[in-house]
Amino acid sequence: MKQDFSRKVYWPSKKVSREAWVNRESVYVAAERNPLKFWEGQAENLAWFKKWRKVFVQGPNGFKWFVGGKLNMSYNCLERNISAGLGNKVALRWIPEPKNEKIVELSYRELLEKTNRFANALRRLGVKKGDVVGIYLPMIPEAVISMLACARIGAVHIVIFSAFASDGLNQRLKVTRAKVLITSDGYYRKGSKIDLIEKVSAGIEGTNIKKVICVGRQGFGRNRRGWISFEGLLKNESDMCEVEEMDSEDLFFILPESGTGGEFIPIMHTCGGYAVQALTSGRFVFDFHEGDVYWCTGDIGWITGHTYGVYSPLLNGVTSVFYEGALNYPNKERWAEIIEENHVNIFYTSPTAVRMFEQEAGRKIDSFLFKNLKVIATVGEPIDEYAWKWFFEKIGKKKASVLDTYWQTETGGVVISSLPGVGPFRPTFAGRVFPGVKVGILNERGGRTKLNETGKLVMFSPFCPGMMRGVYRDEKRYRRYFAKGMKVYSLDDLAFKCPDGMIKIVGRADDLIKISGHRMSTVEIENAVSSLSGIEECAIVGRSDTLKGTVPVVFVKAKSGITEEQIVRRIVEKVGPIAKPSRVYFVEDLPKTKSGKIVRGILRKLVEGEEAVDVDVLSNPESLAGIRKLIKED
Ligand code: WT7
Repeated sequence: MKQDFSRKVYWPSKKVSREAWVNRESVYVAAERNPLKFWEGQAENLAWFKKWRKVFVQGPNGFKWFVGGKLNMSYNCLERNISAGLGNKVALRWIPEPKNEKIVELSYRELLEKTNRFANALRRLGVKKGDVVGIYLPMIPEAVISMLACARIGAVHIVIFSAFASDGLNQRLKVTRAKVLITSDGYYRKGSKIDLIEKVSAGIEGTNIKKVICVGRQGFGRNRRGWISFEGLLKNESDMCEVEEMDSEDLFFILPESGTGGEFIPIMHTCGGYAVQALTSGRFVFDFHEGDVYWCTGDIGWITGHTYGVYSPLLNGVTSVFYEGALNYPNKERWAEIIEENHVNIFYTSPTAVRMFEQEAGRKIDSFLFKNLKVIATVGEPIDEYAWKWFFEKIGKKKASVLDTYWQTETGGVVISSLPGVGPFRPTFAGRVFPGVKVGILNERGGRTKLNETGKLVMFSPFCPGMMRGVYRDEKRYRRYFAKGMKVYSLDDLAFKCPDGMIKIVGRADDLIKISGHRMSTVEIENAVSSLSGIEECAIVGRSDTLKGTVPVVFVKAKSGITEEQIVRRIVEKVGPIAKPSRVYFVEDLPKTKSGKIVRGILRKLVEGEEAVDVDVLSNPESLAGIRKLIKED
């Protein structure tokens, strides 16, 4: 395949490079020579109640990191930093969406006190080590307090994105068997008050949820009978709370992700390795230093919000900006104002957000100087060259290091990215493999590809410390990710590598699509559509979109009378507004194989405007004429 990509590379500014934790090639060399020693050295930066006996073990059924080590994440985020003199430093700077509301700052000490109070309250409610606690909260400080409180007592949190519909909440609570749910009466989004009470009432039906704790975000004190007020709970608790000594390999949290089959895959992360990777990658990739003000725009409902919205910045003792609302509300430049007004110097966002900034930017954007920014980075999907350059020139002012960080829910932390003090940065390339991580690109026969040749991206044992350790109660599903006695992990992305070691991610190798950087399964959306009576058949594929990266497009064969609006409404109700399709095509027939399977690959090509498709596989090639016509008419 002929590759078309940018050959231009950029290097860090002298200032960024000089001040960075990592600015030498030798770090890569040493880590490559001995990855275990590298990670072990990084682990020394955490506080351990008991040191590990062995840094890594690999067996035929799995692997472990920092075996025998004991630690606690909340202790490492809070007390460890407070002992180092950061007690009065702002840990969290919360910005509500309504501009007339007050910004809330919590110092490391205040965050510890609140975490302790809430952790005591959870214990009093009977939550014990290993119990699963659901967190269905918007971007408010209570979300961070809840996560840290769970970490403190060894409860396993499962965060559910607050924009998911009640069905999504329900299914996620069911698969993880959560006992307690922490939620809020609602939140603000683009000026409207979004209500969560109804969604929660429906979402907990038929689950194991015994108690609901509700934050009064909207100040109405509205509550359902039997629900407990978050604020009320804190009042009577002590601000001291003993930490649970967690084993390195104890379950830390579960985060259900979309699988290709439309199911939720509850990914499990453990305590020790995850903490080591969160700390180390924050330091290496974002170059966290004591005086930094960092802003990650990712929601806590996704892994980015876990690792780089909460744990990594807190472990590294920086000030983290936490914003409730939409980046372009109430004015298009709100995001830029937040950067400037809060002196943000490290900014982490998504390519979709960058494209939106670029498309909406008027002349006003040039009045922002962004003098402080030293690192600006994206995650979630590939960033195109145009958006990259705009980001670099207009936001980074050609001085900031621009990073395209590649990783997954499964890897827990960044596995491919340039480092801000080392470089180089190359538009549309994720960068080099993180020190201490081994990846390969394999061809169809499982052999190594040549340079510049596209293949499947894999990671080799010892993977990375923050790597998932299982799929909750589904050993088989977990093993499906691996090959060769669990020594090779497939990332399910296509990539190629250039002679300079830079890796370009070409796209997914399966049926997951990225909508605004959020991972969705097309099957999950199909199931929502099929639940509408009168739908005979349905297929969903992703179409590239200049703003969102990919958007779902629906093909249905339906009884007459069904409208596009009904289908869109059903998707929003069942999955959430994020999965809203850009188009619904009513077709007479869907292209099928001889064995009757819908060939989504052909539909995908057609919506992208590709003319040539292989019709030999089809039993009904005539079905394509009507579909082509519909697409052309658009
Ligand atoms: C998938 C993982 C990990 C944080 C958010 C996403 C895609 C992620 C990049 C990037 C190209 C990327 C991959 C990956 N992806 N980062 N920098 N360039 N593609 O986590 O929701 O688990 O999705 O996102 O396809 O496998 P996730």
